[in-house]
Formats: sequence, structure tokens, C-alpha cells
Amino acid sequence: MVQLTLPKNSQITEGKVWPKPEGAKRVRELRIYRWNPDDGQNPRVDTYYVDLDDCGPMVLDAILWIKNNVDPTLTLRRSCREGVCGSCAMNIDGMNTLACTKGMDEVDGAVKVYPLPHMPVVKDLVPDLTEFYAQHRSIEPWLQTTTPQPEKEWRQSHEDREKLDGLYECILCACCSTSCPSYWWNGDRYLGPAVLLQAQRWIVDSRDEATGERLDNLEDPFRLYRCHTIMNCAQTCPKHLNPAKAIADIKKKMVERRM
Ligand code: SF4
Ligand code: SF4
Ligand code: FES
Repeated sequence: MVQLTLPKNSQITEGKVWPKPEGAKRVRELRIYRWNPDDGQNPRVDTYYVDLDDCGPMVLDAILWIKNNVDPTLTLRRSCREGVCGSCAMNIDGMNTLACTKGMDEVDGAVKVYPLPHMPVVKDLVPDLTEFYAQHRSIEPWLQTTTPQPEKEWRQSHEDREKLDGLYECILCACCSTSCPSYWWNGDRYLGPAVLLQAQRWIVDSRDEATGERLDNLEDPFRLYRCHTIMNCAQTCPKHLNPAKAIADIKKKMVERRM
């Protein structure tokens, strides 16, 4: 896949103000980032109005209403519309979150919508997550065992299963990594909070038999140790997870195994 980045020295300019829906009694203003790699233009912010009496309450509802009724060229990712797939992650009102679970009533004034920050943009609200997924693949996010496969299933006690709480719920939306200043500046080498939380999910899994190799794989000044506990990740996570704690737990394990 070709890496698409914003044009160098590009300025975000004021874009088009689209007309208010005819006859609408209750309207809401949205200001949405637009960039098309094919038209040679700078990014811009378009202003749209949605008819609240004809539209659901979430920011995703509004964006889809605009796409269906006003401007079919507006481009975004989404799938489940209930906070499960992670694909509608974007920056809304200055915070990375899921458009499908963010209510318009949680935002004062015009709803400002941008793609996830500090990522290359494919088009409009679609970030290029190629590198993010490659980093996820690098931690080998699957069960690894050396003992022979049991006849029925790998068993786990309730107690060990509970160790995965706060980790398995991650939907890989990338809200945390793209809010992390360390990831902004070192995203090519630092794995970032989302991928490290996923790494911890496999490190603590009692059924996995590759813990040592997993820790070896992270023992690197950049891959793990660029977290400076700024905590943006925990503040922004739409699933209320705490990647900073997962990272601290991995670092603790690194120390323990040296003792
Ligand atoms: S930890 Fe939270 S913010 Fe980060 S990728 Fe997982 S669900 Fe998204
Ligand atoms: S706590 Fe660590 S991972 Fe989370 S935002 Fe800060 S530097 Fe990034
Ligand atoms: S559409 Fe799946 S999380 Fe929003």
C-alpha cells in the first residue's frame, strides 16, 4: 500500500459552507476535516448542518446523515456502530474517541471532527494504519505453546482468566497511540500504548508458553521504554482501559526477571 501523507507545508484552510437543510427546525453544525489526495488542494474544514429531527444522536449518525443527504464524497471508516470494531475512531471536539459512541449532546457548539492526529491520512477522516497494524503483528498476538495440544481446549482457572481483564477488551481503535506524544515523535520505533497493552495481554495469559521470548522482543530502548507516563492514553481510551498501567506492568516484569 502506498503511504499517503499530508502535502508538505500544507495549511488547513476554511472550506465550503454547505446549506442548512430546508425546513429543518433543529439543526446542528459540524465542522469536518476534508482532504483528497487526488485534487492537489490543501486540506480544508467544511461546515455542514444536520437536521436533528431526522438524524440519530451520535456524531457517527450525523456524519452518515451528511454523507447520505448532503455530500456523498465525505469519506470515513465505520462498521459496527456500537463501539466494538474500533474503526470509527477519530478526533472529535479535541479528543480521540469513537464517533459511534460519542453523543452530539456531549459537545458544546459546533462539532469539530478531524482524523486521528499525527497519522498519514488516506482521505478525509481515514488514517493510514498500515504501520500501526505492522507493529501489532510484531508482538505476535496469538497463543504460543510448546506442550502438545490438548484434546479439547486449553484450560484456564477463573483466577488466571481475571488477569486478562482490562486488557482483552481493547478494540485496537488506536485512539490511545495517536494521543501519545511519545508515539507522535517516535512512532516508527516506539510501539505505543495500544500495541504494548496487547503485548501485555499475551504476556499475562497463563496458557501462553512464550513469555520469555515476548519480553525479549520488547527489551529495547525504543520499543518499550519511550513511555513517559504522560497518561493521555488512559484519558482518551473509549473503552476505559489503562495502557499506561499495562506498560508499567511490563517494565516491572523486565526488572523482576533480572533479579
Ligand atoms: S487501549 Fe483503548 S484506546 Fe487503545 S486501542 Fe485499545 S481500546 Fe483503543
Ligand atoms: S502514559 Fe506512556 S503510553 Fe500513555 S500517553 Fe503517556 S507516554 Fe504514551
Ligand atoms: S463503528 Fe465500530 S466502533 Fe464505531
